[in-house]
Amino acid sequence: MIDYLWMWSELIVRWVHVIAGIAWIGSSFYFIALDLSLKPGKELPEEAHGQAWQVHGGGFYNMVKYLVAPAKMPDELTWFKWEAYGTWVSGIALMSLVYYGAASLYMIDLDILDITEMQAVMISLGGIVIGWAIYDGLCRSPLGRSDLMLALAGFAFLVVLAYGYSQIFSARGAFMQMGVTIGTIMVANVLMIIIPGQSKVVVALKAGETPDPRYGARGKQRSLHNNYLTLPVIFVMIGGHYPMVFATDYAWAILGLVLLIGAVIRHFFNTKHKGLAPPYWTWLVAAILTGFAIMLSQLGAPQVKYDQSAHASPAALHQASVELVIERCASCHASKPVWDGLAFAPKGIHLETERQVIRHANEIFWQVSASHAMPPGQVIWVEDKERAMLAAWRDMVNQGLVGSNRS
Ligand code: HEC
Repeated sequence: MIDYLWMWSELIVRWVHVIAGIAWIGSSFYFIALDLSLKPGKELPEEAHGQAWQVHGGGFYNMVKYLVAPAKMPDELTWFKWEAYGTWVSGIALMSLVYYGAASLYMIDLDILDITEMQAVMISLGGIVIGWAIYDGLCRSPLGRSDLMLALAGFAFLVVLAYGYSQIFSARGAFMQMGVTIGTIMVANVLMIIIPGQSKVVVALKAGETPDPRYGARGKQRSLHNNYLTLPVIFVMIGGHYPMVFATDYAWAILGLVLLIGAVIRHFFNTKHKGLAPPYWTWLVAAILTGFAIMLSQLGAPQVKYDQSAHASPAALHQASVELVIERCASCHASKPVWDGLAFAPKGIHLETERQVIRHANEIFWQVSASHAMPPGQVIWVEDKERAMLAAWRDMVNQGLVGSNRS
């Protein structure tokens, strides 16, 4: 029963996280596109900046934007903040349930750094706060006066940070740490900068004063950053499920490329929504950068080649591979895992019999040969030579040379 409660709470928190994230990103994409499409109109009030006509769900909308603020406070005002806060709260809850709750499997790799579970969690949480503080400091520094200089500094900071984390956490832990850090920066932009600035404008308006336009400008700059960080952060959240992305030596460089890919794709849509000629070149750049990312993920995988002479016959290779998998993997991947803290086989993957091992040949390839994802945090050592052997064995299985792929 406890197992079920645990799994269900993970599922429900994940559900909430995805829904809140959709609501946040959806409203943010909508407002960016709306903002860019505003056009001046003759009949608009003097303080109005522009307007847009839209059609959706069986009706027409006339959206008018007031830069800084309207002359008089409206009676009712809808704020957009709970989407962001909800995404963060559910995100941290998910991080705690999945990563912090099993830090020795998800965050720590003793070959990288010998830390305890408690230390890993503390470094992760402290790192999230420091990450925000440094980013915020960059924005407030003289660099912040130029959007381009700030973007370059922010990009360099994130890539260096990603590399730094790869020297502290396991591959998977380091990758997710970056996702959480970037996500937190985005939410903190809403909580600490955008909403407080807007509240001050509202207070000034209510007092009959002219609001300070600096608040609006600062909020807009942070909102622009959030816009460009959205696609990369989603990539990290999904990428955490793909071993060839996070469990390669160059995961930090792949993240750098993804930051650029996300930026050029946003640039395409931002320009298009402005009503200008869409910059189609951005797709070529995105494709080339993606090509580099694919190359890096392969270069960062175990590089040792299988030595053909290591086994006298395909049957010997098959036997050695099956034995290796059962020996190194079945402490966790069993109906009754002996690994402390595991109640059942992770992801329902059982690797206790020859037939089960054969059935999972391709997954074993991606987790063990094409990356260092399994065993997690290298808690059980597998040589690169052995990883190469499993790759050769998987080819053999796929060619139907051994066993049968059916269970
Ligand atoms: C210390 C325990 C442990 C050991 C040892 C271990 N695994 Fe895993 N394995 C896990 C956990 C935990 C997960 C779930 C990861 C996740 O949540 O994405 C997992 C997931 C998997 C998956 C599914 C991945 C997915 O995302 O669907 C495969 C395949 C796998 N392991 C193969 C192996 C192989 C092959 C070995 C031996 C070389 C191995 N594992 C050794 C704990 C272990």
